[in-house]
Amino acid sequence: MGYPEQRLRRLRINGNIRRMVRETSVSVNDLILPLFVVHGMNIKKEINVLPGNFHLSLDKLVDEVRYVRDLGIPAVILFGLPEKKDEFATEAYNPEGIVQNAVRTIKKEVQDILVITDVCLCEYTSHGHCGIIQEGYVQNDPTLEIIKKITLSHAEAGADMVAPSAMMDGQIGVMRKTLDENGFSNVCIMAYSAKYASKLYDPFFQEGTKSIVKFGDKKSHQMDYGNSNEAMREIALDIEEGADIIIVKPAMFYLDIVYRAKKQFGIPLVVYNVSGECAMITSAAEAGRLDKTAIIMEMATGFKRAGANLIITYFAKELARGF
Ligand code: PBG
Ligand code: ZN
Repeated sequence: MGYPEQRLRRLRINGNIRRMVRETSVSVNDLILPLFVVHGMNIKKEINVLPGNFHLSLDKLVDEVRYVRDLGIPAVILFGLPEKKDEFATEAYNPEGIVQNAVRTIKKEVQDILVITDVCLCEYTSHGHCGIIQEGYVQNDPTLEIIKKITLSHAEAGADMVAPSAMMDGQIGVMRKTLDENGFSNVCIMAYSAKYASKLYDPFFQEGTKSIVKFGDKKSHQMDYGNSNEAMREIALDIEEGADIIIVKPAMFYLDIVYRAKKQFGIPLVVYNVSGECAMITSAAEAGRLDKTAIIMEMATGFKRAGANLIITYFAKELARGF
């Protein structure tokens, strides 16, 4: 049976029927907002390239997290801008470091929202790389030793979830072991499993965390964007090592990876809608060429349709306000 008996437009004829047959929708439960924490007091400075996102001192962070919680967003992910950086990222695991204090403060002041921490070295190293450099190159196993210390310091501060983003081999296994051995078996690992070496992160380093690499690039640990099978291997290993949730990053150009991963692995899957994606949409909207509110909802729905369960996005507040 075909036309004229079958007319697919019957199910599109008005808003109510469209609502009834819609297969995929985005809800506030799907959103995670990144937050950038800085030292000092009374600081709330907008990050130009990410409108509506700020560098926040602890006092302002609390207000922002309350607001985000009141919007119904279930979780935030924290990034720190330390005062000191060195070759070994020592500030990254300082119990009194910027992220550790942020976690402690949020846990004390704000109820009913999850706190996730990004676990990497690059915001804390003087050279901007994600690990310990020897012979001009990021060393895997010495970096794992630092990752263990960062993980423990975040858990001790009260993080609900840790999100390793360094793309070091074996990082999930050593983190799970560190957490379990120290009484943190309920702390989740949200692994940046398939993280690609992407130019879409440039605005994040330049304006978000101010951690531009001083030499070289991150291609020896982040994935080559030509590869898809390799992403499945990365995810499989991370699950084996104990990941609870996996991330594909970036989002927009990588939805084939999301679709494939969701089919292959029955595990909660997150897309990270990165700074460059936000920048593209924002610039086009500011130039009057795109309707931002409509575009971000279409984008987020696309992420979910591809198979994502959760979305880390700088547009989380704007999306939540639109529901
Ligand atoms: C690493 C980290 C990065 C981003 C989030 N966590 C940079 C990188 O991995 O190279 C990028 C996020 C974005 O561009 O929005 N700590
Ligand atoms: Zn890094």
